[in-house]
Amino acid sequence: MKIVLARDYQHLSRLGASLVTRAIKQKPNLVLGLATGETPLGLYQELVKLYRQGNLDFSRVVTFNLDEYYGLPPDDPHSYHYYMETNFFKHVNLRRENVHLPPGRPENVVAACAAYEAAIAAAGGIDLQILGIGQNGHIGFNEPGAALNATTHLVDLAPETILANARFFSCVEEVPRRAISMGIGTIMKARRILLLASGEDKALAVAQALEGPVTTRVPASLLQLHPCVTVILDRAAAGQLNGKTNREEEPVCC
Ligand code: PGA
Repeated sequence: MKIVLARDYQHLSRLGASLVTRAIKQKPNLVLGLATGETPLGLYQELVKLYRQGNLDFSRVVTFNLDEYYGLPPDDPHSYHYYMETNFFKHVNLRRENVHLPPGRPENVVAACAAYEAAIAAAGGIDLQILGIGQNGHIGFNEPGAALNATTHLVDLAPETILANARFFSCVEEVPRRAISMGIGTIMKARRILLLASGEDKALAVAQALEGPVTTRVPASLLQLHPCVTVILDRAAAGQLNGKTNREEEPVCC
Protein backbone atom coordinates (compact mmCIF):
# COMPACT_ATOMS: atom_id res chain seq x y z
CA MET A 1 0.00 0.00 0.00
CA LYS A 2 1.37 3.39 -0.95
CA ILE A 3 0.27 6.36 1.11
CA VAL A 4 0.61 9.80 -0.42
CA LEU A 5 0.17 12.95 1.65
CA ALA A 6 -1.38 15.88 -0.17
CA ARG A 7 -1.14 19.45 1.10
CA ASP A 8 -4.87 20.04 0.78
CA TYR A 9 -7.99 18.90 -1.07
CA GLN A 10 -7.03 20.58 -4.34
CA HIS A 11 -3.60 18.96 -4.28
CA LEU A 12 -5.20 15.58 -3.49
CA SER A 13 -7.54 16.00 -6.47
CA ARG A 14 -4.65 16.90 -8.76
CA LEU A 15 -2.52 13.96 -7.61
CA GLY A 16 -5.48 11.62 -8.10
CA ALA A 17 -6.15 12.99 -11.58
CA SER A 18 -2.51 12.58 -12.56
CA LEU A 19 -2.60 8.92 -11.51
CA VAL A 20 -5.78 8.32 -13.52
CA THR A 21 -4.31 10.20 -16.49
CA ARG A 22 -1.18 8.08 -16.48
CA ALA A 23 -3.28 4.92 -16.33
CA ILE A 24 -5.33 6.03 -19.36
CA LYS A 25 -2.21 7.00 -21.31
CA GLN A 26 -0.71 3.58 -20.58
CA LYS A 27 -3.93 1.82 -21.54
CA PRO A 28 -6.36 3.92 -23.63
CA ASN A 29 -9.10 1.30 -23.20
CA LEU A 30 -8.74 1.35 -19.41
CA VAL A 31 -11.59 -0.16 -17.39
CA LEU A 32 -12.08 2.48 -14.72
CA GLY A 33 -14.12 1.99 -11.56
CA LEU A 34 -15.76 5.23 -10.42
CA ALA A 35 -16.97 6.55 -7.08
CA THR A 36 -19.47 9.23 -6.12
CA GLY A 37 -19.85 11.41 -3.02
CA GLU A 38 -18.08 14.63 -2.15
CA THR A 39 -14.51 13.35 -2.17
CA PRO A 40 -13.99 12.62 -5.90
CA LEU A 41 -15.65 15.85 -7.11
CA GLY A 42 -12.30 17.65 -7.34
CA LEU A 43 -10.77 14.70 -9.17
CA TYR A 44 -13.56 14.82 -11.77
CA GLN A 45 -13.06 18.56 -12.18
CA GLU A 46 -9.35 18.01 -12.78
CA LEU A 47 -10.02 15.24 -15.31
CA VAL A 48 -12.51 17.45 -17.16
CA LYS A 49 -9.90 20.24 -17.23
CA LEU A 50 -7.26 17.89 -18.64
CA TYR A 51 -9.75 16.66 -21.25
CA ARG A 52 -10.61 20.23 -22.32
CA GLN A 53 -6.92 21.04 -22.63
CA GLY A 54 -6.61 18.12 -25.05
CA ASN A 55 -4.50 16.04 -22.66
CA LEU A 56 -6.93 13.19 -22.11
CA ASP A 57 -9.03 10.99 -24.36
CA PHE A 58 -11.85 8.93 -22.87
CA SER A 59 -13.13 7.59 -26.19
CA ARG A 60 -12.01 4.03 -25.42
CA VAL A 61 -12.29 4.14 -21.63
CA VAL A 62 -14.93 1.88 -20.05
CA THR A 63 -16.39 2.82 -16.66
CA PHE A 64 -18.23 1.00 -13.89
CA ASN A 65 -19.62 2.87 -10.90
CA LEU A 66 -19.47 1.43 -7.42
CA ASP A 67 -23.07 1.90 -6.42
CA GLU A 68 -26.50 3.45 -6.83
CA TYR A 69 -29.36 4.19 -4.45
CA TYR A 70 -32.09 1.60 -4.68
CA GLY A 71 -35.40 3.01 -5.89
CA LEU A 72 -34.15 6.20 -7.53
CA PRO A 73 -34.63 6.65 -11.29
CA PRO A 74 -31.60 7.87 -13.26
CA ASP A 75 -33.03 11.37 -13.69
CA ASP A 76 -33.55 11.89 -9.95
CA PRO A 77 -31.09 14.64 -8.95
CA HIS A 78 -30.05 12.55 -5.91
CA SER A 79 -29.23 9.47 -7.95
CA TYR A 80 -25.65 8.60 -8.74
CA HIS A 81 -26.62 8.35 -12.43
CA TYR A 82 -27.47 12.04 -12.24
CA TYR A 83 -24.34 12.88 -10.22
CA MET A 84 -22.07 11.18 -12.76
CA GLU A 85 -23.84 12.77 -15.70
CA THR A 86 -23.65 16.26 -14.22
CA ASN A 87 -20.19 16.13 -12.72
CA PHE A 88 -18.32 14.07 -15.27
CA PHE A 89 -19.91 12.17 -18.15
CA LYS A 90 -21.43 15.10 -20.02
CA HIS A 91 -18.14 17.00 -19.93
CA VAL A 92 -15.89 14.37 -21.53
CA ASN A 93 -15.90 12.11 -24.60
CA LEU A 94 -16.85 8.87 -22.88
CA ARG A 95 -19.11 6.76 -25.09
CA ARG A 96 -22.51 6.07 -23.59
CA GLU A 97 -22.21 2.36 -24.31
CA ASN A 98 -18.99 2.27 -22.30
CA VAL A 99 -20.54 3.76 -19.16
CA HIS A 100 -22.08 1.47 -16.52
CA LEU A 101 -23.80 2.04 -13.19
CA PRO A 102 -25.85 -0.41 -11.14
CA PRO A 103 -29.52 0.22 -11.99
CA GLY A 104 -31.48 2.00 -9.25
CA ARG A 105 -34.80 0.40 -10.14
CA PRO A 106 -34.16 -3.05 -11.57
CA GLU A 107 -37.13 -5.32 -12.18
CA ASN A 108 -35.19 -8.22 -10.76
CA VAL A 109 -32.48 -7.25 -8.28
CA VAL A 110 -30.67 -10.59 -8.24
CA ALA A 111 -30.54 -10.77 -12.03
CA ALA A 112 -29.41 -7.13 -12.29
CA CYS A 113 -26.59 -7.70 -9.79
CA ALA A 114 -25.45 -10.81 -11.65
CA ALA A 115 -25.61 -8.91 -14.95
CA TYR A 116 -23.45 -6.12 -13.49
CA GLU A 117 -20.80 -8.64 -12.41
CA ALA A 118 -20.98 -10.29 -15.83
CA ALA A 119 -20.52 -6.93 -17.59
CA ILE A 120 -17.43 -6.19 -15.52
CA ALA A 121 -16.01 -9.61 -16.34
CA ALA A 122 -16.86 -9.21 -20.05
CA ALA A 123 -14.97 -5.89 -20.07
CA GLY A 124 -11.90 -7.77 -18.82
CA GLY A 125 -12.20 -6.76 -15.15
CA ILE A 126 -11.56 -3.37 -13.56
CA ASP A 127 -8.05 -1.98 -14.14
CA LEU A 128 -8.25 0.92 -11.73
CA GLN A 129 -10.91 1.42 -9.08
CA ILE A 130 -11.39 4.83 -7.46
CA LEU A 131 -12.73 4.72 -3.90
CA GLY A 132 -13.77 7.09 -1.18
CA ILE A 133 -14.19 5.93 2.42
CA GLY A 134 -17.13 6.37 4.77
CA GLN A 135 -16.69 7.64 8.32
CA ASN A 136 -17.61 4.11 9.34
CA GLY A 137 -14.93 2.60 7.10
CA HIS A 138 -17.25 1.51 4.30
CA ILE A 139 -16.07 1.30 0.69
CA GLY A 140 -18.73 1.45 -1.97
CA PHE A 141 -21.76 0.76 0.22
CA ASN A 142 -20.16 -2.26 1.88
CA GLU A 143 -21.15 -1.43 5.43
CA PRO A 144 -19.36 -2.71 8.55
CA GLY A 145 -20.74 -5.98 9.90
CA ALA A 146 -20.00 -9.53 10.88
CA ALA A 147 -19.78 -10.53 7.22
CA LEU A 148 -19.39 -8.85 3.85
CA ASN A 149 -20.90 -9.68 0.47
CA ALA A 150 -18.41 -10.63 -2.21
CA THR A 151 -20.34 -9.52 -5.28
CA THR A 152 -22.77 -6.80 -6.37
CA HIS A 153 -25.78 -6.89 -4.08
CA LEU A 154 -28.65 -5.00 -2.48
CA VAL A 155 -27.49 -3.35 0.76
CA ASP A 156 -29.29 -1.95 3.78
CA LEU A 157 -27.47 1.30 4.43
CA ALA A 158 -26.03 1.72 7.92
CA PRO A 159 -27.77 4.38 10.06
CA GLU A 160 -24.54 6.41 10.15
CA THR A 161 -24.33 6.36 6.33
CA ILE A 162 -27.93 7.59 6.06
CA LEU A 163 -27.09 10.41 8.48
CA ALA A 164 -23.81 11.25 6.72
CA ASN A 165 -25.51 11.38 3.30
CA ALA A 166 -28.45 13.44 4.55
CA ARG A 167 -26.37 16.52 3.66
CA PHE A 168 -27.10 15.84 -0.01
CA PHE A 169 -30.89 15.68 0.60
CA SER A 170 -33.35 18.17 2.04
CA CYS A 171 -33.91 15.98 5.10
CA VAL A 172 -32.72 12.66 6.50
CA GLU A 173 -36.08 10.99 5.77
CA GLU A 174 -35.45 11.50 2.06
CA VAL A 175 -32.25 9.42 2.03
CA PRO A 176 -32.93 5.99 0.47
CA ARG A 177 -32.49 3.16 2.97
CA ARG A 178 -31.04 0.76 0.46
CA ALA A 179 -28.56 0.74 -2.38
CA ILE A 180 -27.06 -1.60 -4.93
CA SER A 181 -23.31 -1.81 -4.47
CA MET A 182 -20.36 -3.69 -5.87
CA GLY A 183 -19.26 -6.26 -3.31
CA ILE A 184 -15.97 -6.36 -1.49
CA GLY A 185 -14.80 -9.11 -3.86
CA THR A 186 -15.72 -7.00 -6.91
CA ILE A 187 -13.56 -4.19 -5.50
CA MET A 188 -10.69 -6.46 -4.44
CA LYS A 189 -10.49 -7.98 -7.93
CA ALA A 190 -9.62 -4.58 -9.42
CA ARG A 191 -5.98 -4.62 -10.56
CA ARG A 192 -5.22 -1.26 -8.97
CA ILE A 193 -7.07 0.76 -6.37
CA LEU A 194 -6.94 4.48 -5.67
CA LEU A 195 -8.46 5.48 -2.33
CA LEU A 196 -9.03 9.18 -1.66
CA ALA A 197 -9.83 10.66 1.74
CA SER A 198 -10.14 14.26 2.77
CA GLY A 199 -11.03 15.95 6.04
CA GLU A 200 -10.80 15.37 9.75
CA ASP A 201 -14.07 13.41 9.85
CA LYS A 202 -12.33 10.63 7.89
CA ALA A 203 -9.18 10.50 10.02
CA LEU A 204 -10.32 7.72 12.38
CA ALA A 205 -11.65 5.52 9.57
CA VAL A 206 -8.42 6.06 7.63
CA ALA A 207 -6.24 5.11 10.62
CA GLN A 208 -8.35 2.02 11.31
CA ALA A 209 -8.35 1.01 7.65
CA LEU A 210 -4.62 1.46 7.08
CA GLU A 211 -3.14 0.58 10.46
CA GLY A 212 -5.79 -1.42 12.31
CA PRO A 213 -6.56 -5.12 12.09
CA VAL A 214 -8.11 -6.47 8.91
CA THR A 215 -11.77 -6.88 9.82
CA THR A 216 -15.21 -6.81 8.23
CA ARG A 217 -16.05 -4.24 10.95
CA VAL A 218 -13.90 -1.80 8.94
CA PRO A 219 -14.46 -2.87 5.33
CA ALA A 220 -11.68 -0.59 4.00
CA SER A 221 -9.17 -2.53 6.14
CA LEU A 222 -9.48 -5.39 3.64
CA LEU A 223 -7.54 -3.19 1.24
CA GLN A 224 -4.46 -4.09 3.28
CA LEU A 225 -4.69 -7.47 1.53
CA HIS A 226 -4.68 -5.96 -1.97
CA PRO A 227 -1.35 -5.92 -3.82
CA CYS A 228 -1.68 -2.50 -5.47
CA VAL A 229 -3.39 0.24 -3.51
CA THR A 230 -2.51 3.93 -3.57
CA VAL A 231 -4.06 6.06 -0.84
CA ILE A 232 -4.05 9.84 -1.24
CA LEU A 233 -4.87 11.77 1.93
CA ASP A 234 -4.93 15.40 2.82
CA ARG A 235 -3.36 16.42 6.14
CA ALA A 236 -6.64 16.32 8.04
CA ALA A 237 -7.53 12.81 6.88
CA ALA A 238 -4.02 11.62 7.79
CA GLY A 239 -4.27 13.20 11.24
CA GLN A 240 -4.73 9.97 13.21
CA LEU A 241 -2.10 7.83 11.48
CA ASN A 242 0.58 6.71 13.91
CA GLY A 243 3.41 8.02 11.77
CA LYS A 244 5.00 4.62 11.23
CA THR A 245 3.35 4.08 7.88
CA ASN A 246 5.57 4.97 4.91
CA ARG A 247 4.46 8.03 3.04
CA GLU A 248 5.40 9.15 -0.40
CA GLU A 249 5.42 12.43 -2.25
CA GLU A 250 4.00 11.24 -5.54
CA PRO A 251 1.43 8.58 -6.28
CA VAL A 252 3.43 5.87 -7.98
CA CYS A 253 1.65 2.57 -8.33
CA CYS A 254 2.85 -0.97 -8.90
P1 PGA B 1 -17.94 11.28 0.72
O1 PGA B 1 -18.40 9.77 0.81
O2 PGA B 1 -16.90 11.34 -0.36
O3 PGA B 1 -19.18 12.03 0.35
O4 PGA B 1 -17.39 11.66 2.05
C1 PGA B 1 -17.45 8.76 0.82
C2 PGA B 1 -18.12 7.45 1.10
O5 PGA B 1 -19.12 7.43 1.85
O6 PGA B 1 -17.65 6.43 0.59
